[in-house]
Amino acid sequence: MYKIAVLPGDGTGLEQVTEGLKVLEAAKNKFGFKMETVHYDLGGERYLRSGDILPESVLEELKQCDAIFLGAIGHPDVKPGILEKGLLLQLRFQLDLYVNLRPVKLFPGVSTPLKDKGPQDIDFVVVRENTEGLYAGAGGFLRKGTAQEVAVQESVNTRFGVERCLRYAFEYCRNKRTRRKLTLCGKTNVLTYAFDLWERAFHELGPEYPEVERDYAHVDAISMWMVKNPEWFDVIVTDNLFGDIITDLGAMIQGGMGIAAGGNIHPGQVSMFEPIGGSAPKYTGKGVINPLASICAGAMMLDHLGETAAAKCIENAVAKVCKEKLKSLNAGQMGYSTSEVGDLVAKML
Ligand code: IPM
Ligand code: MN
Repeated sequence: MYKIAVLPGDGTGLEQVTEGLKVLEAAKNKFGFKMETVHYDLGGERYLRSGDILPESVLEELKQCDAIFLGAIGHPDVKPGILEKGLLLQLRFQLDLYVNLRPVKLFPGVSTPLKDKGPQDIDFVVVRENTEGLYAGAGGFLRKGTAQEVAVQESVNTRFGVERCLRYAFEYCRNKRTRRKLTLCGKTNVLTYAFDLWERAFHELGPEYPEVERDYAHVDAISMWMVKNPEWFDVIVTDNLFGDIITDLGAMIQGGMGIAAGGNIHPGQVSMFEPIGGSAPKYTGKGVINPLASICAGAMMLDHLGETAAAKCIENAVAKVCKEKLKSLNAGQMGYSTSEVGDLVAKML
């Protein structure tokens, strides 16, 4: 019996998770696993009403679940940073979800802005470190608000944190991929401390994974090649901020935020799955948001829980719906409403 915490969050988050859950329910009936859900109303509305962002008692309950299914965080009436840091990043840190896994896969029939590139060219995975780097919150102000103000924001890279992320990437590459090429994305020409550590750890661990081909590229060059030669990539491993940036680029080349999903993972522990796009408040309640990202996040969650056949089946159903049904993956242009897209995938399954 899987116990799933559902956090719809803000904006279109609820519409998205509703369809994600619809498909998970269909998969449950087809594959015979058991699942119960517990809903939590964390997000902007609750914060505005009560001041709560992530109460300790809720965090403790989340730790008792098998997985967390998240919608989206971000409310137009709450100053940027409060919910992002207080809720999303807190969950990543407090649950020690040290990998942010973001597949970039173009399904047949989905249009990509990359001219002359197709599904055979765009199929890679980004392993983003998820608990350190510039996200760790190290730094501070000096003489804030004066003409001599100083703001320092430091990137924290521990050997322990880097190594466990690299190991995950090596293992993912060896166990889940056929090409088995792992590219370290860094900036060794300028960030000569942080990425020196990353690069040394990468090559020190490498011999333990002889099946995996090692490759290195600077983040700026990767941004260029993701557009020009995405077929060069199989698995990319990188730090928190670079991973954040290149996965938005990745989302665009795989067809947009409507389909991009990610997992915040600590192997063997409660992990959290989410569409990587935001809460898209302007579309809230209109039934136009694309739920495929949430549906794909659900598939990643099942994969994490060991329900690999069910996960694969959802992915195939999504691919078929993209190919045979949807006019576009963009909000409001799908040719179907949000809940109709959920129905299509559930039925296809
Ligand atoms: C993401 C988001 C978050 C991040 C924000 C909302 C804090 O952009 O999941 O990629 O920067 O990690
Ligand atoms: Mn991001």
